[in-house]
Amino acid sequence: MDKLLICPSILAADFRNLAAELGRVANADYIHVDVMDGHYVPNLTFGPMVARAVQDVADIPLDVHLMVTNPDECLELFVPLRPGFLTVHYEACTHLQRTLARIREAGIKAGVALNPHTPLAGLEYVLDDLDLILVMTVNPGYGGQEFIPSMEQKIAAARRLIGSRRIRLQVDGGISLDNLNRVVSLGADTIVAGSAVFQAADPMAYIDKMRAIG
Ligand code: DX5
Ligand code: ZN
Repeated sequence: MDKLLICPSILAADFRNLAAELGRVANADYIHVDVMDGHYVPNLTFGPMVARAVQDVADIPLDVHLMVTNPDECLELFVPLRPGFLTVHYEACTHLQRTLARIREAGIKAGVALNPHTPLAGLEYVLDDLDLILVMTVNPGYGGQEFIPSMEQKIAAARRLIGSRRIRLQVDGGISLDNLNRVVSLGADTIVAGSAVFQAADPMAYIDKMRAIG
């Protein structure tokens, strides 16, 4: 398996002191930034200006998760940040292949997120256009939700679909040391965790423990 990548989600950070919170996860592989527009999901979070501030402080590549309707309309706001990954939702894209091609053309790794009810089948013809599949293990919109058990089958199916391709398999929602072993054994290799990491007494030690599982 490729190296396990740990991506703490700043959605669970204390926004009153974001710089200090980023210091608590300084050993992360990526900082996961949940962009929510109040339309695609019933919540509003950060835009490109906050993402840039995070990047300036953290000196760790960003993993930008766009939970927005029609991401093409705001893609160009995030491209100049040169995130490590830029992920759009399958359900939010009318011309998914074009959107992925645009992200890659900018030299950024392209990801596609699938809501829990969305079948994997829609990705069959864009597998050569993407670098990461994000299996949402909760319904997007909020941190601190419970992992949906039926997503275990989907993680395994996504791993089979990926086969020998160089595509990361990310999971996001309700992940902690309690279920990490399970999702990794099913094939996840890129782990988003918000509450579990930021609520830990020592987030860096928690991240090290997560990484040791891979
Ligand atoms: C949910 C977000 C997640 C969220 C995960 O819509 O995409 O990234 O921050 O939070 P936890 O790990 O607390 O479930
Ligand atoms: Zn996310």
